[in-house]
Amino acid sequence: MIIGERLKIVSNLQVMPDIYKIVLKARKFLPIKAGHFINISVNDPSKILKRPFCIYDYDKKTGLLTVCYQIKGKTSGTYNLSQQDGFLTSDFPLGNCFADFIGKHRNIALVGGGIGVFPLYLLKEEKDIDFSVFVGFKDKKTADALSADFKVFKKLSVITDEQGFVTDKFKADGKKFDAVFACGPKAMLKALKSLNLAIPVYASLEERMGCGIGGCITCVCNVGGKNLRVCKDGPIFNLAEVAFDE
Ligand SMILES: Cc1cc2nc3c(=O)[nH]c(=O)nc-3n(C[C@H](O)[C@H](O)[C@H](O)COP(=O)(O)OP(=O)(O)OC[C@H]3O[C@@H](n4cnc5c(N)ncnc54)[C@H](O)[C@@H]3O)c2cc1C
Ligand code: FES
Repeated sequence: MIIGERLKIVSNLQVMPDIYKIVLKARKFLPIKAGHFINISVNDPSKILKRPFCIYDYDKKTGLLTVCYQIKGKTSGTYNLSQQDGFLTSDFPLGNCFADFIGKHRNIALVGGGIGVFPLYLLKEEKDIDFSVFVGFKDKKTADALSADFKVFKKLSVITDEQGFVTDKFKADGKKFDAVFACGPKAMLKALKSLNLAIPVYASLEERMGCGIGGCITCVCNVGGKNLRVCKDGPIFNLAEVAFDE
């Protein structure tokens, strides 16, 4: 884990009115895998807390690390992550990763919704796995913008809300998989959980975070009857064990 490293901003491209893809220059050959996240701070002493974003892409040979971020509030909004001195201070890679759950699974479905598709993209680096990808977006414009990169996966189903929910599409597909990796809004994860699949479903969760490294318990959630920290024990958990607040 690298703490407090200043990463140079290489580019910051707008892909939707409120979504940007920022490329940062990190060290080469870091052990970064799909599902890991990065905690980023801006160059403003009044914004002490860093903000968590999943690592969308990482090129080991160049060290280029990509984050896709949606403008939400104080940090991502006001500062647009790029209006800095050309650098962003970051802790990374944090949390567990999907590779921790691959084990003997070779035929895996990826189910993602909205900006929840971001942590799934780096799974393109797991060349031995046969992935079937199901991604859902609220409308065609969003689907076109956010699913374009996912064409690297040979088996890709893109669905918009007008056509139905991504979980319905996944269910209707009816293929047998060894496991599911998922990320998306809570409603999507709840729908996926309610399918009661006979295979393991591993989902990346989002919680408000403080430290991002396990020290402040801001991010605890109930998994398997225990209070686990999403930042340190997750963010990926066995969905069957996650108790969502009703
Ligand atoms: C492990 C993890 C990975 C994430 N990956 C991404 C990513 O790849 N791309 C991306 O755009 N966002 C991602 N997020 C969400 C991102 O961290 C928040 O959008 C960001 O912290 C908002 O910061 P802010 O200062 O701009 O907003 P703030 O001013 O702090 O908050 C504004 C509003 O944003 C919402 N918000 C803030 N934090 C979260 C959160 N953790 N989850 C959901 N909603 C939140 C709340 O509605 C809040 O009222 C991730 C969160 C986690 C925990
Ligand atoms: S954010 Fe501090 S323990 Fe998770």
